[in-house]
Amino acid sequence: MQENVDITRNSMSSLVDAFFSLLAKKRLQENTQQIAEKLAIPKTEGICTVGMGGSSIAGQIAIALLNDSSSIPLTFVRDYQLPAFIDDRWTVITVSYSGTTEETLSAYNDADSRGCELFSVTTGGELGALCSSERTHVLPKGIQPRAALPMILAAVLPLMQCLLGNRPTDFEHLSEKLTDRQKELKGSMKEPQEIATHIHQRIPAFIGWRHLAPVAYRAKTQINENAKSTAYSLELPEANHNEIEASAAYANQSIAPILLRSTYEDEQTRRRFEATSKILEQESVEVESIQFSGESKLEEVLYAIQYLDAVSVRLADIRGVNPMGVPQISLLKAILAGNIEL
Ligand code: F6R
Repeated sequence: MQENVDITRNSMSSLVDAFFSLLAKKRLQENTQQIAEKLAIPKTEGICTVGMGGSSIAGQIAIALLNDSSSIPLTFVRDYQLPAFIDDRWTVITVSYSGTTEETLSAYNDADSRGCELFSVTTGGELGALCSSERTHVLPKGIQPRAALPMILAAVLPLMQCLLGNRPTDFEHLSEKLTDRQKELKGSMKEPQEIATHIHQRIPAFIGWRHLAPVAYRAKTQINENAKSTAYSLELPEANHNEIEASAAYANQSIAPILLRSTYEDEQTRRRFEATSKILEQESVEVESIQFSGESKLEEVLYAIQYLDAVSVRLADIRGVNPMGVPQISLLKAILAGNIEL
């Protein structure tokens, strides 16, 4: 997508199609990057991302990708308040697409009062006014926060990489590469429509491991917000120690397990997925397994998110609902803000 294309004129489905182009839509400002480089470890002793819903997921993904190599703690907060261990040695990256989400604003103020180093990613709003301009990555306005994920990730991940003293990912190059490869990849996987048809009238349970665990969570939230339908996300190995006991109830309760498989699985995890699948099948549960791949974990994550986002939009179509609006979220926010009484 070119810089001059008006993203606000696009439907949710075309925004999902443009996912890889959106990675290159808004580059991190040079001065913001330089500030992050100056704050790199050992100055920064921990990084926390803050945000809710569609604005939180980029932080969760970045953390899952960086956890393997980071020498300092990385954590995310989806609440009004930060945990007690976060102090002025930490850097906090606050994300709110609208800039008006009350939990996020409260957590920003909490971080500020503790003397944390702060960065913000937003279109403006109150958050835009709170944070200094050179520490604010300004996103283009006018789309749903969850559709802005590629743009948010293309800011949050490089910021975190700089703070960790690593070279930031070149999202412009990656965007081009993934857009080209998307066409090749299309033929090698089931159409998202097929998965959407499979989960229609069922409750999908997306099961992911390590860097695909936040992808499973993203898929759950996209089914909720785009298709206005129930979905769950589970993580391996943890789900093998509790959820597996519910296998016999899956058929009756119309739960559709969807295993998100990675080419980066170690042998233990590969055996775990296979065993989980066998146990479910013994209980006459239809198990859907989707194999993702990529030349890096980041690429694999991005392919997987784009694919599963497309599933959620196809499901919205099948269900005859509008994937764009989130009337219940808006209603709840209006009630909490005291603008509406029920
Ligand atoms: C709507 C969406 C929501 C919002 C959330 C927080 O598309 O994804 O989950 O992201 O309500 O709002 P913002 O992102 O404006 O802070």
